[in-house]
Amino acid sequence: MENVKRIIVPTDGSGHADIAVERGLSLAKALKKPVVVLYVVDRPGFQAFPPESLLVDVSDLVRKEASAVLAKIEARAKTIGVDVKSEVHEGHPAEEICRTAQPDDLIVIATHGRRGLSRMLLGSVAESVIRHAPCPVLVIRHGKT
Ligand SMILES: Nc1ncnc2c1ncn2[C@@H]1O[C@H](COP(=O)(O)OP(=O)(O)OP(=O)(O)O)[C@@H](O)[C@H]1O
Ligand SMILES: [Mg+2]
Repeated sequence: MENVKRIIVPTDGSGHADIAVERGLSLAKALKKPVVVLYVVDRPGFQAFPPESLLVDVSDLVRKEASAVLAKIEARAKTIGVDVKSEVHEGHPAEEICRTAQPDDLIVIATHGRRGLSRMLLGSVAESVIRHAPCPVLVIRHGKT
């Protein structure tokens, strides 16, 4: 663990992700490592429509939501004294998470996110990150310590 350079914490702004973020920040504090918090703006269902055909730019709304989520996490990191950098990417969430991580990073991710179907063992983003990440992945289960 002492060889880890950065802790990458992806978030979709959900309660499940909040728990993983808190864990990631605590771990970063203990290991004295910097954190990168990443929010991926995903719009698969809307790519079929040209942007001008939509009354509101959905990705714009999601970007605003992302900024609010990340600002809150930055404030939290500052309070506990963790060096944090936040990033908003657009694209496929798992691909962007895996592209951001380097082999000497550690990804801290929750089992579930916005959809939160707990009867499933893992959400699709979490599963794909575990399969394809270039570095170790720490998976946080809701309600388990
Ligand atoms: N758009 C995203 N940007 C950054 N991190 C994300 C994003 N979506 C999911 N994640 C990360 O993956 C974790 C698991 O979410 P995931 O999307 O796999 O589960 P789900 O939303 O419950 O199910 P699914 O999306 O497969 O229906 C989230 O808590 C978050 O840490
Ligand atoms: Mg999801």
